[in-house]
Amino acid sequence: MKYDFDTPVERRGTGAIKWDGMEPAYGTNDLMPFWIADMDFRTPPFIIEALRRRLDHEVLGYSLKDDAYFESIIRWNCDRYGFAVEREWIHFMPGVVPALALALLFFTKEGDRVMVMPPVYHPFHLLPAWNRRQLVWSPLDYGDDGRYHFRPDRFRRDIKGCRMLLLCNPHNPGGMVWRREELELIAGVCREEGVIVCSDEIHADLTFRPRVHTPFASTGEAARENSLTFQAPSKAFNLPGVGSAHCFVPNAELREPFFRFLDQNELAGGNLFCPIATTAAYTHGTEWLDQMLAYVAENFRFVAGFCRGHLPLIRPVVPEASYLMFLDCRALGLEQGALEELFCRKARLALNSGAMFGPGGEGFMRLNCGCPRSYLREGLLSLQKALEES
Ligand SMILES: Cc1ncc(COP(=O)(O)O)c(C=O)c1O
Repeated sequence: MKYDFDTPVERRGTGAIKWDGMEPAYGTNDLMPFWIADMDFRTPPFIIEALRRRLDHEVLGYSLKDDAYFESIIRWNCDRYGFAVEREWIHFMPGVVPALALALLFFTKEGDRVMVMPPVYHPFHLLPAWNRRQLVWSPLDYGDDGRYHFRPDRFRRDIKGCRMLLLCNPHNPGGMVWRREELELIAGVCREEGVIVCSDEIHADLTFRPRVHTPFASTGEAARENSLTFQAPSKAFNLPGVGSAHCFVPNAELREPFFRFLDQNELAGGNLFCPIATTAAYTHGTEWLDQMLAYVAENFRFVAGFCRGHLPLIRPVVPEASYLMFLDCRALGLEQGALEELFCRKARLALNSGAMFGPGGEGFMRLNCGCPRSYLREGLLSLQKALEES
C-alpha cells in the first residue's frame, strides 16, 4: 500500500472532539474513543498540500468558489456514479447537518410531518423535533440475515400526510446501501404524496464492492423533480473539520427559491479552505480512497473474527458502506443503561449508544472502525476482559 493507515497519529491535545471532548458525553476523557464519525487516519497528503500551498500566501481574504471546484464535483459524480450533475444545480453548503436544517426550515413549517427511518443518525430526528415539526418514525427492520430492510407497505402507510422525508443514503448506523428498486419506489410514492426528499449521501463514497451507491436523484424523473441531495468529501477523505459540503437540486422550482434564501441571508458561504480541500479530494482522491476502504474492510473482518472467537454474544452488523459498525449486543441480555455502563465504565471505551439513533437502536452500540487496527485490538481486548470480570 502506498498510504499508511496502520501507524497511529497522536490526536490528543489537538482539540479533536473525538479525543479531547468526551467528557460532556461520557463524564471523562480517559476512554478509548470509537464514537464520533471521523477517522484517526491522516487526511490525505494531496489535501494537506493544497491547503498548505494556500497558506503560503499570507492574505486570508474572502474567496471565490472557482470553476475547478464545481468541475471537480461534476466529474466525481460522473466518474463514480455515472450521474450527470449540472453546474447550476449545485450550491455550496457549510456542512450536511446545517444543510438538512436549512432545507427543513425552508421547506416545512412548525407542525408539519417529517419522516425518518430509524435507527438513524441522530440529527435526523433531533432537527425536526427541536424545530417543532411532527416526527414520523417509520422503522427499518433488522433481519436474521444481519441486514436492515426497508418495508414498502409500512413506508406507504407512514408517509401519508408528510411534507418531507429525510433519507440517509447509505444508511447510518446500519451501514445499509439502498437498492435502486427501493429508491425508485420511495421516489414514486413521495412524488404522489407531495413529499420532498432530502437525500443525505455523505457516506456514499465509502460504499464497499460489490455494492454500489445509487444517487437518489439518478433513479428517474420522480426523484429528480422532487429531491435535494447533500454530499460532502468530509467522511470519505477525513476532513469534517473543514466544514465543506454541497447540495444539488435538479428541479428549478425547488432550487431557485431555496438558493435565493441561502444567498440573500448569506447562510452558505463557507470559508476559503472549503473549495480547496474539496477540489483536491475529488481530483486526486481515488487511489487513496480505494486503499483506505481496503484497510477498513480488513478492520471489519478483524472485528467480526474477534467477536466470533471471543465475544460470541456480540454480533456485528457488517456494513455495506461507511466505517461505522453497529454491534448487536442484545444477546448479552442487558438493559441499555447497563450496556452503556459495560462499554464505558468497565471496558473504558467510548462508543455511541444505539439508543441515540431512535427506535430499534436499543441493544446496539456503534463502533467506529476508521482507525489503526491496533486500536480495535486494544479496545476489543478491553471489552473481553470487562465481560469476563462482570
Ligand atoms: C448521515 C450523516 N450526515 C451528516 C453527518 C455530518 O455531516 P456534517 O459534518 O457535514 O454536518 C454525519 C456524520 O456522522 C452523518 O453520519
